[in-house]
Amino acid sequence: MKSLKEQFIGHVVGEAIKRAPAGRPPRIMDLGCGTASYVPPLVEQCPNFEYVGVEPIEDSYTRAKENLAGVPNAKVHFQLAYDSVPEEKENSFDLVFSLSVLEHVKDLQSFISLSAKYVRRGGLMVHRYDLGHALHTHSLKEHFHVFMGNNFPQLLPERQFVRYVGVPEVEEKFRKAGVTPTDVTYHQMPSHKELEKHFNDSGTTAVDELFAWEIKHQKDFKKITEKDRELLFPAVAVWGEKWDGPHFARG
Ligand SMILES: C[S@@+](CC[C@H](N)C(=O)[O-])C[C@H]1O[C@@H](n2cnc3c(N)ncnc32)[C@H](O)[C@@H]1O
Repeated sequence: MKSLKEQFIGHVVGEAIKRAPAGRPPRIMDLGCGTASYVPPLVEQCPNFEYVGVEPIEDSYTRAKENLAGVPNAKVHFQLAYDSVPEEKENSFDLVFSLSVLEHVKDLQSFISLSAKYVRRGGLMVHRYDLGHALHTHSLKEHFHVFMGNNFPQLLPERQFVRYVGVPEVEEKFRKAGVTPTDVTYHQMPSHKELEKHFNDSGTTAVDELFAWEIKHQKDFKKITEKDRELLFPAVAVWGEKWDGPHFARG
């Protein structure tokens, strides 16, 4: 069974594949890839893509390398996504994305600007992040970290950093980086995530149907007030395309 998150990744990569120029495999970059455990299942969907992950935590980086060992044309760099990624050409990726990362990033503008730098003209940039830490806090420690991240960001070390991130802030940073925000989608109701746990390896298509339902009803979700919508769907994805801005003029 593919989790809702894995299905989201498949969906985003599917969009990038549709846009990739014919004659070469789609190129995708994943900033803050963690262990990249969701990458091997992507091969079933698209056997021929180039994947570049970036991960600054050593244990996760090592596990990502192990997980990517059997995936052709996949590599991971050990670094924060503030600095240029060595060997990778700017303006050359069909998709640059991150999953569950923005809420942990201290210097959000640098992170988003770096991701924009690697998107090719006409390419996609998608950052999906989790508001669950801030809106459905599970422990006193998490509550404390979110409070510090929201109010005294300079006091938290990079590895413990977490905060609430609002859509307008992300959209503004996209624009500043030369990427036009095109859509915002809402995912992963907490109860759906719980349900998913009961269906591991059960062979049911219930979770696939839930993801299709999420995609189908995005317009309806947007009629709910922002505050209630974020509580219902704490995984928020901001989508953008690179056309204008500092990197390229349209034409
Ligand atoms: C919750 S994990 C998500 C990992 C993976 N994307 C996933 O969805 O399973 C957040 C990841 O963001 C990474 N991260 C945090 N700040 C970062 C930064 N400034 N640059 C790159 N990665 C960062 C962390 O090392 C961690 O692996």
